[in-house]
Order: sequence, then C-alpha cells, then structure tokens
Amino acid sequence: MNMLSVIQFAHALMEKTVPEGGFAIDATAGNGLDTAFLAGLTGESGKVFAFDIQKTAVNRTAVRLQKAGLENRVQLFQTGHEHAGECIPAFYHGKISGALFNLGYLPKSDKSIITRPETTISAVRQILDMLQTGGIIAIVVYHGHDGGGYERDQLLKFAKTLDQKQAHVLQYGFINQENHPPFVIAIEKR
Ligand SMILES: C[S@@+](CC[C@H](N)C(=O)[O-])C[C@H]1O[C@@H](n2cnc3c(N)ncnc32)[C@H](O)[C@@H]1O
Repeated sequence: MNMLSVIQFAHALMEKTVPEGGFAIDATAGNGLDTAFLAGLTGESGKVFAFDIQKTAVNRTAVRLQKAGLENRVQLFQTGHEHAGECIPAFYHGKISGALFNLGYLPKSDKSIITRPETTISAVRQILDMLQTGGIIAIVVYHGHDGGGYERDQLLKFAKTLDQKQAHVLQYGFINQENHPPFVIAIEKR
C-alpha cells in the first residue's frame, strides 16, 4: 500500500514536528513502541515524557527503552495522562513539540482497562496548553472494543469544538475497511 497506515500517518506528523533536542509526550506508553519512536526523534539532547496507568505497561516500556539504550531520554510516569500538567515540570510548558495517544487497551493484557473520554479529553486539553506553536497532538482512535464507541463520539464532539483560530484539527482514516477501522485525530496548535 502506498498510502500511509494510521500509525504511519501519526508518526509522520511527529517526524515533521519533533526536532532533535525537542520535547515530546507519549500519553499512552503501553508496550513502549511509540515512546521509543519519539525518543529516537528527540535524540539525546531532547526528552520524552511517557504515561501509563498500568505497571505492566510501564515495565514493558522501560525494558524496551533499556534494550535500545534510550532510557536516559525518557521520563516514565505510572499515572494517568490526565495528570500531565502537574507531572511535567513548568520549564517544559509551552515547549512541547509533539504528543501521541494510542487509545483503547494494552494488547495481550486486561481488555477492561481502557482509556476513557473524560480523562483523555482532560489530557488533550492540558497537552494543548503545553504545546509550542506548530506542535501537534496525534490521537490514534481504536473504537471496536466495549467503551470504544463512546470514547470516539465524545472525542470527535470535543475536537470539532476547538476554535479554528487556535488549532487546525483533522481526521485521517480508511472509510472502506471492515470492523471499526482505527483513525487519527490530529490537532496542531496555531
Ligand atoms: C493501545 S495501548 C497503547 C499502545 C502503545 N502506544 C504502544 O506503542 O505499545 C493503550 C494504553 O493506554 C493506557 N491507559 C489507559 N488509561 C490511561 C490513562 N488515563 N493515562 C495513561 N495511560 C492510560 C493503557 O493502560 C494501555 O497501556
């Protein structure tokens, strides 16, 4: 396929906006794939702040980072992304260039532990405040699981209300795929 998958699209946005030496957020660390990807972009002189509520996820992410020699570039928080504003030191507020969310549940784990619209939207609001101008939040929305449809609807409703003078907001996804194909909501701060 020549077109970008939703994950590739989200990563391409990060490649465009997160420079070497930049600061980024992985709001849903999970298995650490996105955390490692962002740490590759920020390089040794930058920093990634990564969040997950599950100890398993934080451990899996820490192991992946160690194996790749990236652990010094990442600060891991075992807490909800809805606490991003208070966890990330004030020095970085206004300097974050990119943030990724992968919604839903941790693969190969408890499928009842999922992201929820109230906390997701609270985190998006806080991270939007912390972005520098031109910074992007890319949210990969999985919505096939129980609770996923509700989160999708709440998030779309919220994203559509963002003032176009303050943010560019887009939706990217395949419209002819079966079984609730995931899609991206991307928000660029103006
Ligand atoms: C789809 S997985 C993320 C996959 C991950 N990006 C990767 O590269 O492997 C979603 C993750 O969100 C986490 N999560 C759920 N609620 C959260 C919250 N309020 N704050 C941070 N993480 C949360 C889950 O524990 C789960 O690990």
